[in-house]
Amino acid sequence: MRGWIVPPPKEPTKSSEAFGKEREEKVNWLIRQGYLRSDRIKEALLRVPREDLIPPLYRDYAYLEVPIPLPGKEATISCPHSYPLFYEPLGLDRGHQFLEVGLGSGYGAAVAREVVGPEGLVVSIEIDPLTFEFGRKNLKNRGYHDIILVNGDGSLGYPAKSPYDRISITAACIDVPPPLIEQLKIGGRLISPVIEDGIQNLVLIEKGEKGIRRKVICEVLYVFLRGMYGVI
Ligand SMILES: C[S@@+](CC[C@H](N)C(=O)[O-])C[C@H]1O[C@@H](n2cnc3c(N)ncnc32)[C@H](O)[C@@H]1O
Repeated sequence: MRGWIVPPPKEPTKSSEAFGKEREEKVNWLIRQGYLRSDRIKEALLRVPREDLIPPLYRDYAYLEVPIPLPGKEATISCPHSYPLFYEPLGLDRGHQFLEVGLGSGYGAAVAREVVGPEGLVVSIEIDPLTFEFGRKNLKNRGYHDIILVNGDGSLGYPAKSPYDRISITAACIDVPPPLIEQLKIGGRLISPVIEDGIQNLVLIEKGEKGIRRKVICEVLYVFLRGMYGVI
């Protein structure tokens, strides 16, 4: 697993037509690479203009496969492929109650909101106040008014809207925080980068009547989870 090389900040130059073309090309690439399979996630990725949720000096790099720095301490918007990488194994679908730990730019929450639709629910928690404000404004500007946004420690979950059908943790932990497992429905799924033997594995958890089933999807590289059950 390698680290990421982020291109230098620069004034944005691309038109919305150019971005629209890049978005479509990216979606086709995600399908060809095997990351993207479901029509609902595909439509959601086509509907959300990722460039509008990225700091202006990185806007031109919106569809590059690099995590881009955000306002706040160690916050990034994940690479474009990360979203289907997480949402496909989760089986995120219409009507789901979805919890995201790590709002970041708000892009993941916006894509999830498009997938679950108005009959579902998206709750997203961000620990860093600066990052939270950035993500909150992005979602407001894009017209997402019904996503529940919380500035706090997502490792504790958000019991007020639990139990959840699906939970996505977008920062790496050593063990999946117990409150998040508790707040998952029976039959629900959770996905998270987990630090194991010096690397990070993307781990999918299914909660059954008799306990949890765990599957490693692939190796990944994410910022560390903070807070009560975090690494730092
Ligand atoms: C990879 S970024 C998230 C990307 C985001 N989902 C997006 O689409 O832009 C991980 C985020 O998790 C946040 N974070 C770390 N620990 C957290 C915690 N305990 N609760 C909530 N957010 C946390 C970081 O501040 C960072 O913004």
